[in-house]
Amino acid sequence: MRACDIIARKRDGFAHSRDELAYFINGYVKGDIGDEQMAAWLMAVYFQGMNEEETIILTDLMLHSGEMIDLSGIDGIVVDKHSTGGVGDKTTLVLAPLVAAAGVPVAKLSGRGLGFTGGTIDKLEAIPGFQTSIPTERFLQQVNRIGIAVAGQTSSLVLADKKMYALRDITATVESIPLIASSIMSKKLASGANSIVLDVKFGSGAFMQEKERAELLAQTMVKIGNGLGRRTSAVLSSMEEPLGYAVGNSLEVQEAIDTLQGHGPADLQELCLTLGGQMIYLGGKTSTAEDGYVLAKEMLESGRAYEKLLELIHAQGGSLENGMVQAQHQYAVKAPVSGVVQKIRARDIGHASMLLGAGRETKASAIDLSAGILVQKKTGDTVQAGEPLAVLYYNDAFAHRVEEAARELQQSYIIGDGAAHMEPLIWKVISE
Ligand code: URA
Repeated sequence: MRACDIIARKRDGFAHSRDELAYFINGYVKGDIGDEQMAAWLMAVYFQGMNEEETIILTDLMLHSGEMIDLSGIDGIVVDKHSTGGVGDKTTLVLAPLVAAAGVPVAKLSGRGLGFTGGTIDKLEAIPGFQTSIPTERFLQQVNRIGIAVAGQTSSLVLADKKMYALRDITATVESIPLIASSIMSKKLASGANSIVLDVKFGSGAFMQEKERAELLAQTMVKIGNGLGRRTSAVLSSMEEPLGYAVGNSLEVQEAIDTLQGHGPADLQELCLTLGGQMIYLGGKTSTAEDGYVLAKEMLESGRAYEKLLELIHAQGGSLENGMVQAQHQYAVKAPVSGVVQKIRARDIGHASMLLGAGRETKASAIDLSAGILVQKKTGDTVQAGEPLAVLYYNDAFAHRVEEAARELQQSYIIGDGAAHMEPLIWKVISE
């Protein structure tokens, strides 16, 4: 077999056999096949695509290319969740304690963020004292003891994806559904859960903006998960505007706490109950996802989910006693005209929060955990000229960027006359 022949087969639109894919992917990870041949193959896949069987085999090979987490020591069915990401997406902070309270063990390995705001691990670090780096043995013991642990991901999972993703980034081959699906799913599967619930977002603040492509991505990932023996479902949800009102690490933690205390934003609560219902069902605690939703609601309304969050924080050394870190300054961004908010370009709000220091521009950038934005008006709200659209939270180090962030934020709001077109938050659920 020669790498060049494998590239030619994909270029000419043929489907690969397992042997061909194994030769190519394993050869690349070992260094026998170089970046130039992988780049050519990625471009061939970009144009020719991959069928379902090839995509499942590719994911399987990628998943075995690095360390794999063994969660078999945990009692019960471990269900993981993955979100394709968005602006103000703090669902994990609500969901993890919610499903743990319902008896589904949560062994969550999360990442740091690049872009708009931090990832779950950055957000948790906004809680004073919270330790996100814990040894594997202690992590597993904690899950068995209190039903929940959330820690930072190790960097040795899925070596194939590390190399391939970096190459895709510089060869204009990121936007290929089989490559995205295998990249995401190989990492999720290597993290060891028995079942997976995917939150796939579409809209202006989503990675996959078009609804139909987001659906195709969700279907492909559900097929991969189920094809590799993990029960997997996906919820397609709108990211046309920020989720909830808070964008930025400590502001998002506070909003997650408010939600667990029963007074959070309606959209965040609804998404968490829907995803929670799926997770509770796949975790074997109810016989349908609808019953899972009801149980999730019970956990929220009874305060048991909030108590579970407090247990998690305590177990990992954190404390809410003195609140979260606070930004030094606030700046209200005013509406330039009166009317009804027709649309909010979520991506621009995310970018404005990054300008204030809430997100990383590069992997090496420092993140300011107290910076961010509290949105005051959402789509469909009436606003008077001069009323605040949002409040910016920032510290001295980023003060020079406030005017730019304010301008970007003001321009992200489309204000007009008449009722706004509202995209439903949850569009579809794709089940096994
Ligand atoms: N996120 C990933 O992990 N992989 C992709 O290919 C795209 C987004």
